[in-house]
Amino acid sequence: MTMNRRQFLHTTAATSALLGAVPLLGADSFGFYRTALIGCGWWGMNILGEAMKYTPPPPGGKRCRVVAVCDVDQTARDQAAEKVTSLTGEQPKAYRDYREMLAAQRPEIVIVATPDHWHALATVDSVMAGAHVYVEKPVGHTIMEGQAMVRAARKQGKVVQVGFHRRVSPHNLSGLKFLREGKAGKIGFIRAFVHYSGATGPERPTANIEPPKGLDWDLWCGPAPLRPFNPLIHPRGFRSFSDYANGQLGDWGVHWMDQVLWWSEEKWPRRVFSTGGRPIRGPAISLPDFQTTDTPDCQSAVFEFESFTLEWEHRIFGGNETDKGENVGCYFYGTEGIFHMGWRDGWAFYPADKNKPVIREPAQLHEPDQQNIEELWTDFIAAIRDNTLPTCDIELGHRSTNLSLLAMLSMKAGRSIEWDGRREVIVGDPYASSLLRRAYRPGYRYPVVL
Ligand SMILES: NC(=O)c1ccc[n+]([C@@H]2O[C@H](COP(=O)([O-])OP(=O)(O)OC[C@H]3O[C@@H](n4cnc5c(N)ncnc54)[C@H](O)[C@@H]3O)[C@@H](O)[C@H]2O)c1
Repeated sequence: MTMNRRQFLHTTAATSALLGAVPLLGADSFGFYRTALIGCGWWGMNILGEAMKYTPPPPGGKRCRVVAVCDVDQTARDQAAEKVTSLTGEQPKAYRDYREMLAAQRPEIVIVATPDHWHALATVDSVMAGAHVYVEKPVGHTIMEGQAMVRAARKQGKVVQVGFHRRVSPHNLSGLKFLREGKAGKIGFIRAFVHYSGATGPERPTANIEPPKGLDWDLWCGPAPLRPFNPLIHPRGFRSFSDYANGQLGDWGVHWMDQVLWWSEEKWPRRVFSTGGRPIRGPAISLPDFQTTDTPDCQSAVFEFESFTLEWEHRIFGGNETDKGENVGCYFYGTEGIFHMGWRDGWAFYPADKNKPVIREPAQLHEPDQQNIEELWTDFIAAIRDNTLPTCDIELGHRSTNLSLLAMLSMKAGRSIEWDGRREVIVGDPYASSLLRRAYRPGYRYPVVL
């Protein structure tokens, strides 16, 4: 499945010739990309902000016209449409169901920023309808969803960018250069982590209530189990419910998993083990009247790579700090010292030789989201214009997501997993293999692209 930029150009041309009808580059005759947003919550609106201010476009590139916004929550979609109108003067159509939107609007660019359990279907359907897609991380909820997303992108010759903006953030780029130049020495061990303290006791169950007016809760749950509505889940809280996401490792951890693959250029681990639980919040509860979150309070995972070992840790108690004091990021342990790749605090190098000074580089992030979505959006548009692979191509995003999902899968199976990354199969473990996908609710078909 591996493909470089040159092969992409070649393959998309061949695929297009075969399929005949699929245009490789799409901009309407006025020089705008017809752009649609699926999932008008916090992050979707941050990305749409970049699409709307995409001016001037890159040389030879085109601007975006927001023709549609789609959300199963009427409040979110109405607010999104109003914002687009107030900022651009355009009047996008607002949709509840993205399938209707795709059929009616035929967008050339689709942004997918729904909760994770919808990423795969929305991306595959959009690509098959002829759109280039910017999809949020993690690419899916189970591993075989990501496989279908890669196949759809290749089959249709469409650009699919994943929201791993840390690959274009200035301090991550200079940090990568520092590591690649060997300034931290030879790296043998990496610890990726997110620690947010604050949990001091058992989680009290929260009452289930009727979904808010205007929210199509059945469609929100979509292919995933239909739980009773609870304000803990929507908006934004789905991260802590394993029916819809994969906890801290699937949400935050996946960014650092991606940084490790980016740095190492290894494609997959050969063995993964993970364990964790809810020692502070207590057992997860799901009753007709009440529920709690169900993802772990703390989790460890160990990934065995060809040339290094990666460890992941997260906990929500016991203080925030790790090793040199940071609460989020990756420590690369090298023969010359410890390199911390961080977020708001940029990067730092702590030399093993105590006589040498600590070196730091600050982050250069954009407000209000404190990320570098702008650079990733620019890269996306350039890839569409040049008909080439984007920096965070779906195949790379799929592999990074696999690290998080394999660890979640190992924790669920209760044993270590041997991963044949070339074939993307688990070796010798039928139960663990069955977790590479999951049953969808009646009425939804697990995505398979041949
Ligand atoms: N790259 C990053 O740094 C980053 C940061 C934050 C969030 N994210 C990702 O963005 C995604 C959204 O997260 P969020 O915090 O914005 O959540 P959110 O709850 O604020 O927004 C999600 C929206 O999707 C809507 N939705 C659900 N199902 C839908 C469907 N079938 N069709 C249309 N809309 C649907 C919900 O109603 C909600 O309005 C997640 O996958 C998350 O991991 C990425």
